[in-house]
Amino acid sequence: MSNEQTTSKGFSHERIETNNFLMIILIVLVVAVGGLVEIVPLFFQKSTTEPVAGLKPYTATQLIGRDVYLREGCYNCHSQMIRPFRAETLRYGHYSVAGEFVYDHPFQWGSKRTGPDLHRVGGKYSDEWHRVHLNNPRDVVPESNMPAYPWLQATTVDPSDAAPRMRALRKVGVPYTDDEINAAPEELKGKTEMDALVAYLQVMGRALK
Ligand code: HEC
Repeated sequence: MSNEQTTSKGFSHERIETNNFLMIILIVLVVAVGGLVEIVPLFFQKSTTEPVAGLKPYTATQLIGRDVYLREGCYNCHSQMIRPFRAETLRYGHYSVAGEFVYDHPFQWGSKRTGPDLHRVGGKYSDEWHRVHLNNPRDVVPESNMPAYPWLQATTVDPSDAAPRMRALRKVGVPYTDDEINAAPEELKGKTEMDALVAYLQVMGRALK
């Protein structure tokens, strides 16, 4: 190194680069401030915190269906996030927007696509198609490698399951009314996990259709 550099210590770059501890502190500071600048505004931006027009909180049945979706790990093969590229919007429909997910806790965007994206699958097929497909995908799509879920049809939902979940969701901002929560057990009476999962699949992405 030249003499000039070693003599001009003060608060020079060399001082930072030759001091591990200082370097680490400053990197952490830069990453933290940079991260906050990107993330914090999202909490206050209308387009990310306000539901799109027509978006309704999940009914008790759809909510239980969503739990079945999580339990069975459907997200390991299916994303729920249509990206704003021509190839995707031609295949799946309107790209996903943040305002569609404000009642999803947690959202199921995912990135693994062994199967197709499901965000706009609501209304694409009949309930009956979904039942047959979930029971044994090969009955409707011969080349499918999706697993079969025959037990969903044989398992009834516990009607008392939804109300506590709805109350918890209300705490994080989902606008359930007392009436809706009180009516949940009645709504779920006699329903199977298949009914619930199909109800969930059929409402997916409908608010923007
Ligand atoms: C091992 C990966 C895998 C898992 C796990 C999986 N799927 Fe699939 N899924 C696929 C594949 C591949 C297809 C495309 C072939 C077909 O339609 O069966 C598909 C297709 C679908 C379709 C039709 C989509 C369309 O637009 O045609 C639906 C609906 C679906 N899956 C729902 C589910 C649900 C609900 C679960 C969880 C209970 C699930 N999948 C679990 C791989 C998977």
